Amino acid sequence: MIDPAPPDRTLTGCSRRRLLCGVLETALVGLVGSSPLVAAATDTDPRKLPPQRGDELAYSSDDGGNVVTAAEIKLHAAPIIVYPRDPLTQVIRERSRLNQILLLRFTSEELSAETRANAADGLVAYSAICTHAACGVSEWNATTLHLICPCHASQYDPRQHAVRVTGPAPRALPALPIKQTGKTLTITGPFSGQVGAEKS
Ligand code: FES
Repeated sequence: MIDPAPPDRTLTGCSRRRLLCGVLETALVGLVGSSPLVAAATDTDPRKLPPQRGDELAYSSDDGGNVVTAAEIKLHAAPIIVYPRDPLTQVIRERSRLNQILLLRFTSEELSAETRANAADGLVAYSAICTHAACGVSEWNATTLHLICPCHASQYDPRQHAVRVTGPAPRALPALPIKQTGKTLTITGPFSGQVGAEKS
């Protein structure tokens, strides 16, 4: 069963921050279907650069552009989508969909050792781009606590380094190592693997 969108953060029936916007997300993927689907960032536009060590996690400009505070992420709630933000310039790296990051909270005890190594006191961050054909991983099962890609139903377990549970995805979602700095969250290294689909 798919968890419904939180009523306090809906926009035309679909939260901009939270997931569960499968239909809209899938449509968006269709619109950008001719865009590169793999991480090959050669652009020096800071808004397109991949996550940099020391970047903060922040909401998109459309969602206000503020940094995310750890307290906003509730245990087992549907993930929110955030982006890297340069703490010096406040530039949000939101011009590349490859920089979309899923942010979730578990207890540290629920996490595998590998997952805990990249987590900040139970908070985990992953690429939001499916490793099968680069759709947005935009759905959440609140019962199994699995992330779901609506395009071909791949599922990932965010407690186990986002390993593929079912579906055609060939590998786990890349993890993004983070730490808590005061009330906010800071990126401590690059994604653990290639974001998006493999080059053919
Ligand atoms: S693109 Fe995600 S399962 Fe196919």
